[in-house]
Amino acid sequence: MARQVPIEAVFEALGRIKYPSYDADISTLGFLEEVKPLPDGAFAVTLRQATASDELMRKVAESVHHALAHDLRVPRVDLRVRRIEAELGEKTGRVRLEGTRHIVAVASGKGGVGKSTVAANLACALAQLGLSVGLLDADVYGPSMPTMFAASDEHPKSAGGQNFYPIEKYGVKLISIGFFLGERAPIIWRGPMVMGAVRQFLKDTLWGSQDFLIVDLPPGTGDAQLTLAQQVSIDGAVIVTTPQDVAVLDAMRAVKMFRQVHCPLLGVVENMSYFECPDCGERDDLFGVGGGERIASGENIPVLARIPIYPDLRGAGDAGMPLVVASPKHPASREFIELARRVVAAMPSESDALARANERR
Ligand SMILES: Nc1ncnc2c1ncn2[C@@H]1O[C@H](COP(=O)(O)OP(=O)(O)O)[C@@H](O)[C@H]1O
Ligand SMILES: [Mg+2]
Repeated sequence: MARQVPIEAVFEALGRIKYPSYDADISTLGFLEEVKPLPDGAFAVTLRQATASDELMRKVAESVHHALAHDLRVPRVDLRVRRIEAELGEKTGRVRLEGTRHIVAVASGKGGVGKSTVAANLACALAQLGLSVGLLDADVYGPSMPTMFAASDEHPKSAGGQNFYPIEKYGVKLISIGFFLGERAPIIWRGPMVMGAVRQFLKDTLWGSQDFLIVDLPPGTGDAQLTLAQQVSIDGAVIVTTPQDVAVLDAMRAVKMFRQVHCPLLGVVENMSYFECPDCGERDDLFGVGGGERIASGENIPVLARIPIYPDLRGAGDAGMPLVVASPKHPASREFIELARRVVAAMPSESDALARANERR
């Protein structure tokens, strides 16, 4: 008669298994579906495939098997993996949005480089060019659009079923994960389920017809970002970086990630490039020089804009009105409008989008 390992010991062992490259364990992240003792000391374990990566799923399954069969000496482990395509979407089927002509992602290798500032101003600049624009704040780690659009108290109206309407502000249709999270963001959002949620989010919003959807992606190049880039049919990515070496290295990683999933790279925005003394007009390269150029020449993609440090830019963001809207003539605003033109021009067969927009006006 085989020894029966207590089920508590099994759960304890499983609770110690971390998802590759995350701090969280596989149980917290929703991988563990069922653990059942079987006769003769065996255990049946059912895992949910809560990632679109078969490779990572295999690693999780191996760790589970090792923990039970090797560490706990369970004589037999019946391991099953249940695929959850409905939650993750078909791996091959990228989300294409009916009525949205172009999806452009704004991404960065790390947080705090001005990704959201660029996304917000780019969206408003496109709207000022006469295009219809949506903005999806998919940054689960720190959704900032509710603040940048003074919309923290807004609640997207339900459209029946799972659907809802974006709010509208400054000529931009806006949906933020922040509208739904509330004070206590559940930990589960911070794992690989993020991409399933963001995908759902994209599809359940009634965007209507629009020329552009700008997506403010979570920073980083982990599994969540990669899968998101794989699942959403992104027409182009804009990489935001600051000129420091570390930021540049992280930005390169982001570039490689988009290449890996065959997503076109529109170029780099070098933010906080330099500080221009408001009194003497002298330039101070606080964070070094040429980070954007280094990525651009190394990766063969253009620098789309260089935005200096402007206290006004931060002020506008904090005050809930992107600078492009608050002071359209500001030098930074002009730079964002130029960025918007370049993004439009980079869309295949869409150089006429501006012309059409002008006709509509
Ligand atoms: N060019 C700039 N000049 C001055 N402040 C900036 C500039 N770009 C961003 N900021 C400020 O830096 C902070 C981080 O920017 P944010 O866009 O939230 O970064 P991220 O989305 O990459 O985390 C914000 O307070 C923002 O207002
Ligand atoms: Mg942000």
